[in-house]
Amino acid sequence: MVCLNTKNLNADELVKLDKEHFWHHLTQHKVFETKDPMIVTEGEGLIIKDIRGKEYIDATSGGVWCVNVGYGRESIAKAVYEQLRTMAYYAGSAGNVPAILLAEKITSLMPGMSKVYYSNSGSEANEKAFKMVRQGNRKRFPGKEKIKILYRDRDYHGTTLAALSATGQEQRKENYGPFLDGFKKVPHACCYRCPFGKEYPNCEIECAKALEEVIIKEDPDTVGAYIVEPITAGGGVIMPVPEYYKIVQEICRKYDVLLIMDEVVNGFGRTGKWFGYQHYDVEPDIVTMAKGMASAYAPLSATVTKQDVFDIFLDDPSKPMDYFRDISTYGGCAGSFAAALESVRIMEEEKLCENSAKMGEYFIGELKELSSLPVVGDVRGKGLFAGIELVEDKTSKTPLEEGKVRKVIADIAAEGVLVGRTNRSFNNNLNNTLAFAPALVADKAVLDKIVNAVRIGLEKACE
Ligand SMILES: Cc1ncc(COP(=O)(O)O)c(C=O)c1O
Repeated sequence: MVCLNTKNLNADELVKLDKEHFWHHLTQHKVFETKDPMIVTEGEGLIIKDIRGKEYIDATSGGVWCVNVGYGRESIAKAVYEQLRTMAYYAGSAGNVPAILLAEKITSLMPGMSKVYYSNSGSEANEKAFKMVRQGNRKRFPGKEKIKILYRDRDYHGTTLAALSATGQEQRKENYGPFLDGFKKVPHACCYRCPFGKEYPNCEIECAKALEEVIIKEDPDTVGAYIVEPITAGGGVIMPVPEYYKIVQEICRKYDVLLIMDEVVNGFGRTGKWFGYQHYDVEPDIVTMAKGMASAYAPLSATVTKQDVFDIFLDDPSKPMDYFRDISTYGGCAGSFAAALESVRIMEEEKLCENSAKMGEYFIGELKELSSLPVVGDVRGKGLFAGIELVEDKTSKTPLEEGKVRKVIADIAAEGVLVGRTNRSFNNNLNNTLAFAPALVADKAVLDKIVNAVRIGLEKACE
C-alpha cells in the first residue's frame, strides 16, 4: 500500500512523475539520468520502506535527525486529527489550547526559561532570536548598536540568509552571499582538529577563551549575542569539553552578550537529556528548537527565552514600536502543537531520554570498537547522537577523500542501513564524518545491526 496514492499509480509511474516534477532538496538532479530517486512510502519504529518494497534501518531519524519517537505513531496522527477537526488555525496573536499547554510543558523541562515564541522551522527560530537581540538591544542600550551576532566555526544555524550568515560552514554558504553585516566567527571546539594545535586537558580550553578575543576585537559595545549548537551536529558531531560552556558563559556575562543555544538537533532527548546544554554548567538566555520537538510529524519550532529577555519588550502600549513586532503565519498551526504535545508525552511515558542516554552509551561504545580500523580517526557523540570521522591515515589525520566517504555510505546502505554524513559543509575535504541519530526507541538489537553494517562498509574502505 502506498500512502495517499490517490491516483493509484505504480512504482514506475511515480518514479517518472518524481523525475519530471519534484525538485529534491540538496540534490544534483543529473544523477537521476542514471538512477532512480529514493521514494519512501512507509515507516514503523526505525524501519522505513521504499517504493520498491526494500526495507532499511534508518539510523538518521528521517535523514536530518528529527523523527525522535520513531515512525508510525498512531497516537500523534490521532492527536493532530482531533485538533484539526476542532480548531485548525488562528494566528499566533491569539492563544490556543495546545499552544499554551506545550509552552508550559517545554518551560517545565528547562528550569530558568520562561517564554515560548513559536515559528515553524529551525532557521526561522534562529531568525527570531537574532531579531530579538537586534530590537531588544537597541531598546536596552539607547544610542549604541550592540547588535552583532557571533557564531562558531563549523556550526550550522539554518538555510535562510541571516541563519546562513551565522553559519560556520563555507560550502553551505558558497554563492549565496552577500551575507548580512554584523555576523562574526569564533574558532570551533573540535578537539580532534584543535584550531590551536593543543591537546585536552593541557589546552587551557583556549577554544572557549577565544570568544573573549573576538568580543574585544569587535568592540564589546557592538556585540549582542553568541550563538552555538551545544553539541555541533552537521558540522561533524562535536561535543565541547566539560569546562567549555562555563567559560563561555562567564565571558558572555562579563560583556553583556546574550548566549543563544541552538537546540534544533540536540533538543528533545537526542543527546540523552531533554536539551544538549543540560550536560553542562550553563544557563542560556535564548534557546531555539525544532526537529525533534514534534518528532517531524508536523513542522514546528520555537525560540524560548528567559523572563528578562521577554521583559525587554514589555512596555507602555502607547509606544507602538516597542513590542516584538514579529509574526510567523504557520507558527500558529494548532495541529503542530498537538503533534508536539503527544510526542513529548510519548517521550516521557516511554522514558526516551533515559533510553537515549543508556542505549547511546552502548552504541558509542560499540562504534568505538571499530577504532582499530585504519580509516577510523575519531568516534564521538552523546546519547543516540554519534559521529565517526574518517581519515586516510591516523597519523596525518588526512581526511578520507569525499568520494571514498560516499562509497562507505553506499556500502552501508547496501547492507540495509541508512546513515548520514557531513555533507556539502566544508572545503579541505572535511565532509568526512559519518553521522548517526537513530530514533530514541532504539534497542540493542537494532543498534547491533547498524554497527555491523557500518563495520562492513568501513572494512571495504580499508581494502
Ligand atoms: C543546528 C541546526 N540549526 C538550525 C537548523 C535549521 O533548521 P530548519 O532546516 O528546520 O530550518 C538545522 C537544520 O539542520 C540545524 O541542524
